[in-house]
Amino acid sequence: MHLILADSELELNPWNKRELLDSSIHHKIMRRKHFSMRRGRPDIVHFFLVVAMESILNKAGLLRVYVHTRNNKVIYIAPETRMIKNYNRFKGLMAQLLREGKIASDERLIWVEEKGLKELLNELEGKKILFTRKGRKINAARLHEEMENDVICIIGGFPSGYFLTKGLEDMVDAIVSIYDGMLTAWSVAMEAIAAYERFKFG
Ligand SMILES: C[S@@+](CC[C@H](N)C(=O)[O-])C[C@H]1O[C@@H](n2cnc3c(N)ncnc32)[C@H](O)[C@@H]1O
Repeated sequence: MHLILADSELELNPWNKRELLDSSIHHKIMRRKHFSMRRGRPDIVHFFLVVAMESILNKAGLLRVYVHTRNNKVIYIAPETRMIKNYNRFKGLMAQLLREGKIASDERLIWVEEKGLKELLNELEGKKILFTRKGRKINAARLHEEMENDVICIIGGFPSGYFLTKGLEDMVDAIVSIYDGMLTAWSVAMEAIAAYERFKFG
């Protein structure tokens, strides 16, 4: 299973390129400069990666994880990567990755490429499922029925609004909503992972 966190709000702080933009810290200047308050959310990426990389599916070697950002960069994470739990250290590593294109100590585990979401989707073969509240309602307990051996699940890495990538709906095979209300990206990721585990292992 391929799992994409799409249009993620992960970027360098334009006023200090040594660090990430983080709305919980930079909210005053973001407001003054009329930045959308959905930007600067490395916490979403962090929670998502910790949940995905620690899953049974990843331990079984059946998961590939990608983080696509609002600036069309794709971060690749090798399955054997031990995701950093400390949030400040995680932000430091991601800032280094976006600034220098690599993390000196983990070059073969995490790397970044300039790439749009559509390009990434074109590279991956399988059923593409877009997760959004606007999708066809299905019960999360039956999500495994949507799964196929080769499947690509796409989840938004932003706190509000909709996907920035235009025409995404035309590139996927199914658009699903698994709950009436809004869920966090990492809880949707966990539901998708658990559904694929049910599909694979019964
Ligand atoms: C915090 S939400 C983004 C906010 C957006 N306004 C929304 O309601 O989905 C993060 C992502 O989680 C997924 N998501 C959230 N709630 C969902 C639901 N009920 N069904 C399917 N996917 C959901 C979507 O991929 C969404 O882009």
